[in-house]
Amino acid sequence: MSQENTEETQATETTETFEPKIMAFVCNWCTYAGADLAGTSRMEYRPNVRIIKLPCTGRIDPLFIIKAFENGADGVLVSGCHPGDCHYTAGNYHAKRRWIAFRSLMEFTGIDTRRLQFSWISASEALKWVDLINNVTDEIKALGPFMDFKNLKG
Ligand code: FES
Repeated sequence: MSQENTEETQATETTETFEPKIMAFVCNWCTYAGADLAGTSRMEYRPNVRIIKLPCTGRIDPLFIIKAFENGADGVLVSGCHPGDCHYTAGNYHAKRRWIAFRSLMEFTGIDTRRLQFSWISASEALKWVDLINNVTDEIKALGPFMDFKNLKG
């Protein structure tokens, strides 16, 4: 087998065996409760997500997202209460506005914005959580590993 074929085979194996790391920043009152319901209902979904629970999506600082990528995340998910349901009245609206501005900044810096996902999930939407995690995992897996920060570290 030639060296070129060997490298091609290794690249294919890497893509096929790649399991993305996804950081999910979720609010305590809705999305976390929905994820918890999925767990207590014994629903199965991809194990690629690590959940960070915050009181409200309004608490999510864009620096959290940058730090997640810097520390090896291949994708980031932000999810909270549906519009009008935030337990702190308007935290999710603030988060959505901040999110839109941050996405533009990510786009400007050349980072593929498909690596950032935003969602509303209530405490009763366990199935929506399961579908979201499975879909996000598939999408990030198709994009491959996020190498920008890893390449900077050398
Ligand atoms: S408490 Fe859930 S988004 Fe504010």
